[in-house]
Amino acid sequence: MAKMEVKTSLLDDMIGVGDMVLLEPLNEDSFINNLKKRFDHNEVYTYIGSVVISINPYRSLPIYTPEKVEEYRNRNFYELSPHIFALSDEAYRSLRDQDKDQCILITGESGAGKTEASKLVMSYVAAVCGKGAEVNQVKEQLLQSNPVLEAFGNAKTVRNDNSSRFGKYMDIEFDFKGDPLGGVISNYLLEKSRVVKQPRGERNFHIFYQILSGASEEFLCKLKLERDFSRYNYLGLDSARVNGVDDASNFRTVRNAMQIVGFMDHETQSVFEVVAAVLKLGNIEFKPESRANGLDESKIKDKNELKEICELTGIDQSVLERAFSFRTVEAKQEKVSTTLNVAQAYYARDALAKNLYSRLFSWLVTRINESIKAQTKVRKKVMGVLDIYGFEIFEDNSFEQFIINYCNEKLQQIFIELTLKEEQEEYIREGIEWTHIEYFNNAIICDLIENNQTGILAMLDEECLRPGTVTDDTFLEKLNQVCATHQHFESRMSKCSRFLNDTSLPHSCFRIQHYAGKVMYQVEGFVDKNNDLLYRDLSQAMWKANHSLIKALFPEGNPAKINLKRPPTAGSQFKASVATLMKNLQTKNPNYIRCIKPNDKKAAHIFNEALVCHQIRYLGLLENVRVRRAGYAFRQPYEPCLERYKMLCKQTWPHWRGPARAGVEVLFNELGIPEEEFSFGRSKIFIRNPRTLFKLEDLRKQRLEDLATLIEKIYRGWKCRTHFLLMKKCQIVIASWYRRYSQQKKYQKIKSSAITVQSYIRGWKARKLLRELKHLKRCNEAATVIAAYWHGTQARRELRRLKDEARNKHAIAVIWAFWLGHKVRREYRKFFRANAGRKIYEFTLQRLMQKYFLEMKNKMPSLSPIDKNWPARPYLFLDSTHKELKRIFHLWRCKKYRDQFTDQQKLIYEEKLEASELFKDKKALYPASVGQPFQGAYLEISENPKYKKLKDAVDEKIIIAEVVNKINRANGKAASRIFLLTKNNVLLADQKSGTIKSEVPLGDVTKVSMSSQNDGFFAVHLKEGSEAASKGDFLLSSDHLIEMATKLYRTTLSQTKQKLNIEISDEFLVQFKQDKVCVKFIQGSQKNGNIPTCKRKNNRLLEVAVP
Ligand SMILES: Nc1ncnc2c1ncn2[C@@H]1O[C@H](COP(=O)(O)OP(=O)(O)OP(=O)(O)O)[C@@H](O)[C@H]1O
Ligand SMILES: [Mg+2]
Repeated sequence: MAKMEVKTSLLDDMIGVGDMVLLEPLNEDSFINNLKKRFDHNEVYTYIGSVVISINPYRSLPIYTPEKVEEYRNRNFYELSPHIFALSDEAYRSLRDQDKDQCILITGESGAGKTEASKLVMSYVAAVCGKGAEVNQVKEQLLQSNPVLEAFGNAKTVRNDNSSRFGKYMDIEFDFKGDPLGGVISNYLLEKSRVVKQPRGERNFHIFYQILSGASEEFLCKLKLERDFSRYNYLGLDSARVNGVDDASNFRTVRNAMQIVGFMDHETQSVFEVVAAVLKLGNIEFKPESRANGLDESKIKDKNELKEICELTGIDQSVLERAFSFRTVEAKQEKVSTTLNVAQAYYARDALAKNLYSRLFSWLVTRINESIKAQTKVRKKVMGVLDIYGFEIFEDNSFEQFIINYCNEKLQQIFIELTLKEEQEEYIREGIEWTHIEYFNNAIICDLIENNQTGILAMLDEECLRPGTVTDDTFLEKLNQVCATHQHFESRMSKCSRFLNDTSLPHSCFRIQHYAGKVMYQVEGFVDKNNDLLYRDLSQAMWKANHSLIKALFPEGNPAKINLKRPPTAGSQFKASVATLMKNLQTKNPNYIRCIKPNDKKAAHIFNEALVCHQIRYLGLLENVRVRRAGYAFRQPYEPCLERYKMLCKQTWPHWRGPARAGVEVLFNELGIPEEEFSFGRSKIFIRNPRTLFKLEDLRKQRLEDLATLIEKIYRGWKCRTHFLLMKKCQIVIASWYRRYSQQKKYQKIKSSAITVQSYIRGWKARKLLRELKHLKRCNEAATVIAAYWHGTQARRELRRLKDEARNKHAIAVIWAFWLGHKVRREYRKFFRANAGRKIYEFTLQRLMQKYFLEMKNKMPSLSPIDKNWPARPYLFLDSTHKELKRIFHLWRCKKYRDQFTDQQKLIYEEKLEASELFKDKKALYPASVGQPFQGAYLEISENPKYKKLKDAVDEKIIIAEVVNKINRANGKAASRIFLLTKNNVLLADQKSGTIKSEVPLGDVTKVSMSSQNDGFFAVHLKEGSEAASKGDFLLSSDHLIEMATKLYRTTLSQTKQKLNIEISDEFLVQFKQDKVCVKFIQGSQKNGNIPTCKRKNNRLLEVAVP
């Protein structure tokens, strides 16, 4: 089945009229009402024929999605509701398929949405044209040129937060397949005065704010800039920040875009250096200085800024300083230098800033063009997009407005020319008679401005070049003379008396009646702006810069290329570029987008009728509609026309088999439409009046409703019938299923009865058989049992007989063996020697001993003296031998073990042995000391510098050096002391200072007392009457008591040959000065952990609690 294609039309679900050509009646009010109605329903686009009117919605509408792009792709212009995509698609397809170069002209006042529209067109074309890596890169570069140009060329104005301050025309080039190859951008008249001064509430160009907000600290430092906007005189402060605009993030976007477009890192750097230099120029200030000749001269106030600019741009500071102070005029061979006064210096400074920036901007455009230039030489198809300032009428209109309006005048002219031309061409193509169309041709206004002899621009140039004093007033005078008679020129001073009494026209103004309205121009500044003067000294200073970009921006500064001719004026430059543009546009098929601003507040949903009316007037939109409607208001190819209205006539409905034109003829005749209302072209029907079209539409609507009813009727009938048939079919199916089910039930019942009967009979039969079989089986079993018993009796009898037989046989064998033994012994006895028995016994014994020792050799335990293993005794008679052997082996292995010791180890073990003899089983502290090695010198007296004094005082070898606690006799508290034992003395020294407190010769130590418990307390008793004993005995405590006591004991023995008395008792007396105090050891609580505590109980008792 062929796929059904749904044909839609602009006329479907139309809000108001989608095409103003169909507006009835046509006047300003109905025009505005229609726009408003559509705007209120979010329809921001409306057609005038093929022209798109776009009203800025000031909010993002969901009508630019990829789905929308698909919707409009490859559809005819009038098929869907008006949209900028429809225009873009139409333009792109006729470029691709019909090989016609296109241009899209976007006009409208500031903030009307021109730039957005141009971006929408570009993005639509990018979305529908070819794909592939290379093509995508080209697209990306073309699209990314926008953010760069917007950053440098756009600014916030009172009318638009992102106002383009330059005109832009971009040619996008395609190959024969419609894939983009590259592009060329032309820029027009950047509003450079903004660089040095901005009106209230407006900003300078975006890039200045973007750098200061977005650049890194490091980058700013490199550019010698500070982040604070208020530091720069050129930045208007009252609206430095714009709501909803993130300058910092835009800066990143711009840098990224520059990279994509193909700017090298050093180029980007240079660009920003120039921007920084411009910004800093504004901070240079001048002061007057009087000179001897009475003239005022200007001097730079603070040279710091100048110095930084020069560092940034590589300009010699003295050169630039001079250029700000002098002006050299060269005429023929003569050079005359004059000084500049303060005002002139400021003028020069601003002129330099403006020139630097505007030249930088042009350089950027050239540089972008280099990047996006098509790489091939093949023939290209071109689509131009023109985003240019629309007609401007302000309160004060100056040179800029004059130039802009001139450009618009030219665009209007080309519009009229091309629209009429197209109309005419279509008529000729369609074979319809051409009737003259009345319209206003603005060529006369263009001529007023651009005429080479008498045009205003020519006059201005002439005035600028004229020797003698030239002012704006002399220019106006001249205009008044030359243009006085021109119909569209008005001035109060002109010879023509028409305006003598027109008070609305001041003396310093002239007025032009543009096609879109009257505009009054203030003549002030015309001459200056047209001259656009930059002192040669400054351009030469710039050329001398050691900065390749700045040098390139001022080629005229090169003294070698000195040109005494004046550079072309701004006006003539613009005129020339407009002429080139017009020439360019004339070769292309034009597409128009007319942008309208609905309100002054940049707000959504507000439709200010007065404002819109003003724009409609000066955009000449009604004029547009009239021109478009002059012949026929509506035209449509025959096929879609027949397709749309064929239901209105029986012959053509539902199918017309024949040529579409004949079908339409039949249709129109049948409908009785008056003949003057339409005309048949070759491929289209032309309808003169919108009324006729609407009549057709109404009829169609009516007919569609009828048809819908008919379709509904047929559909309902069909639906009921199908339903009935279905029910019928269902009923048959259900009945058949039920019958089958009931028969099945019946059959199953009979079957189960038969099975029951059958099973009873089978059971009875089986039981009978079972009984018989059981009887038979029991008979067989009885026979078997009887046989078994009988066989058993037989077998047992046989066994008994065999057993008796065997017993008899065995008895015989034994008797026989005894008898034989006896016989042998009796016979052998006479051969047996008397001592043979002992010999055999000894031999046996020897064998056993040998075996025992051999076995012992193999089972020897290890050589470790603590190994308790010893093999078990094999024979009882070896018991004592076995024990003795064990003892000898142990002694031997102990000796072996001892033999390994060095002398030092021996000494240690001797000491340990001594300690064991003294304390084992006597003092509870002893077992813990066994594992501790006896170190003696715990304090390293000789090494540690802290003890140097002590070491010097003791010259003997130190046996013990350890910290002990000396117990205070008065309260039992402990104090740290160093305990030293030398060969001859016991010493106690202060622990901190190392001074010796007591020194006792060993001979004076009589006894050492200690408890039997687990504590380190001990008393050193001294000989009565000895010198040391005067202070009494020492009561000390130490962690190494066992070691100390042992060493003391040994040393005393070796020195005095007397055994030191060591008393171990839980109660002993200690001599304290005159008194004897009893030290008593008791079992204390565990309150203080394991530390014994000492307490003085009374005069005679010191109690030590041992936990
Ligand atoms: N189609 C649109 N959808 C949503 N917002 C829009 C649309 N067109 C324009 N705008 C809004 O209006 C603002 C102004 O638009 P735009 O910059 O295109 O104006 P313009 O005509 O180029 O003005 P100028 O002459 O000052 O450059 C945009 O920043 C955007 O916020
Ligand atoms: Mg713009």
